[in-house]
Amino acid sequence: MSNNRSASTASAVVGLQWGDEGKGKLVDLLASEFDAVVRYNGGANAGHSVVVGGQRYALHLVPSGILSPGVLAVVGNGVVVDPERLLEEIKTLSERGVDTSAMVISDRAHVVMPYHKAEDALREELLSPAADSGPTQTKQVVSAIGTTRRGIGPAYADKVQRATAIRIGDLLNPEILRTKLEMICTLKNSIFSALHPGEPEQFDAYELTEQFSALGEQLRPMVKDTAYLLDDLRHTGKSILFEGANATMLDVDHGTFPYVTSSNASALGIGPGSGVPPQAVTRIIGVVKAYSTRVGGGPMPTELFDEVGDGIRTRGREFGTTTGRPRRVGWLDLVALKYAAMVSGATELCITLLDVLSGEPELRLATSYAMPSGDTDRFVADGILLGEATPNYETMPGFSEDITGARRFDELPANARSYIERIESFVGVPIRTISVGPDREQTIRR
Ligand code: GDP
Ligand code: IMO
Ligand code: MG
Repeated sequence: MSNNRSASTASAVVGLQWGDEGKGKLVDLLASEFDAVVRYNGGANAGHSVVVGGQRYALHLVPSGILSPGVLAVVGNGVVVDPERLLEEIKTLSERGVDTSAMVISDRAHVVMPYHKAEDALREELLSPAADSGPTQTKQVVSAIGTTRRGIGPAYADKVQRATAIRIGDLLNPEILRTKLEMICTLKNSIFSALHPGEPEQFDAYELTEQFSALGEQLRPMVKDTAYLLDDLRHTGKSILFEGANATMLDVDHGTFPYVTSSNASALGIGPGSGVPPQAVTRIIGVVKAYSTRVGGGPMPTELFDEVGDGIRTRGREFGTTTGRPRRVGWLDLVALKYAAMVSGATELCITLLDVLSGEPELRLATSYAMPSGDTDRFVADGILLGEATPNYETMPGFSEDITGARRFDELPANARSYIERIESFVGVPIRTISVGPDREQTIRR
């Protein structure tokens, strides 16, 4: 590795809302222009749908680049990996005829263990409304996050705790793994038995060592130091595309905390999650749904509770790729979007699911918030305070044409073009891609 030699720059696809913006579709569309597609954050909480030739694939831990032959699919150190799920996903893809031989996993990625999933579920149950009626009757400030229960938060918490963490590299060394797990299981069992007195000990270090060493052996051929790998790629003129999981509004530092995920799900997570320095990433494509959706708890100022929202949910098939939960639906929030574009440093935007808005007589865009302290055009990056925001809307005329066949910007109805141009002028970032359907071809490049 040398900093003196010139290195190629990298691009990124990152969600600018609360997830499910259509990142998978865009990554798949772009992947063949790159040598490697790299995941840097999140885990199996992500669900990226890709439709190729009428076939739908749902990717959770495997980078969406896997569907493009010859593209290296890299799971970076910032990802939390559930080895069993990852191996299952690879197997399912192989059975469907996808070549999965070009997969690499960082030895420094952290492992989601069974106790992480148990902790995730337990914490959610403790925070759910039924648990709010304890003897003190204290009103809960924070209710359930509505996590995917994939063990994401507890796995990242153990990473930051350090001593209680297991990394992919540890799975290749049974002696180290067993020693770590003996201490970890003692600790986890005592926490669980304090919460569930009288229940038998749940986690056995010996059994987990056996199970996870076996999983490690299956992963071994894919495990590498991906920081060096990515640096070598960049210094041999190869191009890299980062695939963000989750989204900017779910970023643990800059999203609607505490209703967020546990990683830097904005573009800011690329450096720590991959080992590629920030100045290397020169093109950042922010993906934005033409309206808003959110899964799980937390504030969403433009949420719709009426038949307009129901219509968008039905037409947009807004049900989670990972959990199948119905997604909450609302108008596009330009206050939040402009903030997200700022935080993620978006150099261009891709607007998706524009076709879903067809048939709405009016389209509304939130351009500022009414707060108890007065109006503001600044986003309130706090999941409790944001609950007090009432959006102020701008209304634009809608369009009723079927736009799924449009392939050029000038083929869109005038009202659809005006809607796109209004988003662009408000956010101040060019919209270079417009998606009008789930298929690769249903895309307009400007
Ligand atoms: P991701 O998590 O950001 O990759 O997004 P998901 O795959 O979870 O959710 C996006 C959904 O919208 C998927 O079912 C896609 O197939 C679908 N989709 C993507 N782009 C479009 C589009 O332009 N129009 C329509 N109707 N569906 C789309
Ligand atoms: P993709 O990559 C939508 C949400 C969950 C929950 C919160 C925390 O498909 O866009 P977690 O399990 O991460 O602890 O849950 O974050 N969430 C997502 N919502 N799309 C995602 O990923 C998400 N990843 C996490 O619903 O509200
Ligand atoms: Mg998704």
